[in-house]
Amino acid sequence: MSRKRLDLPDSAALIAGAAPDDRLSAPSAERNIGPILEVLERVVPPEGRALEIASGTGQHIVRFAKARPKISWQPSDAAAERFASVRAWIRASGLANVADPRLLDAAAPWPRDLKDLDLVIAVNLLHLVSDDTAAAILANMADALAPGGVFCLYGPFLRAGRFASDGDRAFHASLKARDPGIGYKDVGWVMDLLVVRGMEAPECHEMPASNLMMTARKTGSA
Ligand SMILES: C[S@@+](CC[C@H](N)C(=O)[O-])C[C@H]1O[C@@H](n2cnc3c(N)ncnc32)[C@H](O)[C@@H]1O
Repeated sequence: MSRKRLDLPDSAALIAGAAPDDRLSAPSAERNIGPILEVLERVVPPEGRALEIASGTGQHIVRFAKARPKISWQPSDAAAERFASVRAWIRASGLANVADPRLLDAAAPWPRDLKDLDLVIAVNLLHLVSDDTAAAILANMADALAPGGVFCLYGPFLRAGRFASDGDRAFHASLKARDPGIGYKDVGWVMDLLVVRGMEAPECHEMPASNLMMTARKTGSA
């Protein structure tokens, strides 16, 4: 079967046709799933309710769900055209603990049932949106967590205003060329927003390719 690259607005290099169904595969998501799982194993509770925002292809959430089979996982994305792929990944996984994807603009007010969550995770989203959108997304993620709930955010970031590599500088410039309002966010800016939103024990985990995974916990005990 031929492999076709799809040019989608988020610039993720998606490969269609690698699977005999609607599964799309982002090579970056295949590369980072192992390191992300290693951090999740350390911070995620054994059971509860988890929401992934910006699920994209859906290839991550089935791996999360396999690693934490007692958690109910909810995929979501602002783009409904992603859902055929998300559903195909869920079907192919055979897992019963992943719900059908929900349409969710993570920067808009969230539906009332998305609250008291035990985990909220976003991978490779913040650099693709404006500062205002990023701030709204972070606030919504924090507000949706139950006391003791875990916040996880993965992606490329500025560190005290500096790029971690020349590749990061070039990628940020390419994002700005496409839309001057988007681009890398600073770790300190994200951390400050999280603390204001009632999160504690923020941690930054170094990940491959100069990426970071930030984790924090909602104040209060579970
Ligand atoms: C680069 S992809 C990342 C997908 C997946 N998390 C991964 O790492 O492979 C960015 C995703 O963010 C979604 N997205 C963009 N803005 C969003 C928003 N405001 N709310 C929810 N999803 C959004 C896009 O539709 C796209 O699926």
